Amino acid sequence: MTGEERRELVLRVHRYSPEERRSWIQEYRVPLYRGMTVLDALLYIKQRLDPTLVFRYSCRMGTCGSCGVLVNGEPQLACQTQVASIAKDNVVEVGPLPGYPVVRDLVIDMTRVFENHHRVKPYIVRRDPREVEEAPREFLMTPEQHLEIYQFSLCIMCGLCNAACPVYHANPRYLGPQALTQAYRFIVDVRDEAAEERIALVANSDGCFGCHFAASCSAVCPKAVDPAGAIQRLRSIAIRASLGLWRKRASKVAPPLEKPLRRVEASYPTGNLVEGADPEEEAARPVQLDIDPEEL
Ligand code: SF4
Ligand code: SF4
Ligand code: FES
Repeated sequence: MTGEERRELVLRVHRYSPEERRSWIQEYRVPLYRGMTVLDALLYIKQRLDPTLVFRYSCRMGTCGSCGVLVNGEPQLACQTQVASIAKDNVVEVGPLPGYPVVRDLVIDMTRVFENHHRVKPYIVRRDPREVEEAPREFLMTPEQHLEIYQFSLCIMCGLCNAACPVYHANPRYLGPQALTQAYRFIVDVRDEAAEERIALVANSDGCFGCHFAASCSAVCPKAVDPAGAIQRLRSIAIRASLGLWRKRASKVAPPLEKPLRRVEASYPTGNLVEGADPEEEAARPVQLDIDPEEL
């Protein structure tokens, strides 16, 4: 292909102005190159054609989860979707993810995703804080137990699954596939001790029993997390727990270290200061370190 024959792509972008309360579709012509992603095309528009176009992105490598958009009707990560593979007659349509309030153009409000994620306690809960604070312990996990949660730990919170879920759109109280998957991930984590609370939260029609199991959430997940599969397992746990037939498997706790660490006070070495810090103040600030006595 010669320079003159370079293909052009037409990007039809759904736009929204909150000031004017107006939405419209705007077309842009973008030169196409091999490997160009939807995010590359949006950046070309932003930098060369129209600086007013607003969209969200960060890592450009499918990791941060912030560039989710609707591409030709499908929830996708803009940075992972090559335009050549999805253009129809050289036209690609890009809009905001459905099921979320639109802030501006392609930027959506993800408050509901983060709030629901927070509600399922997406962290390991231990009942006795002394286990970690007073005597640092290791909570053991076998490779098999790790494999049980591994796939579900890959979630990047992009919200594509929720955008694809009809129940999430219809029921504003539905937790959604993202949060339900994380509930499952921590319920089966052998190191965690808050399974009952999470089961009580999800075992209802706004939780795992509200799912219709059409699995459109799993079909769009860019990390192969399989939220639909997690929700089915969650249902099974919820039903068995209500019949008294499910018991949480607990991890073994490693014995305390044979050689207890010794807590020592130190000060910052000179010449290793945080930029802009006062050297005298930093040198006077004590630091506590836990050190193997043999290393002293
Ligand atoms: S489960 Fe998949 S689609 Fe849903 S938020 Fe996590 S990574 Fe995104
Ligand atoms: S399987 Fe359940 S959570 Fe996933 S899209 Fe369907 S209804 Fe929503
Ligand atoms: S920019 Fe981070 S996932 Fe696309």
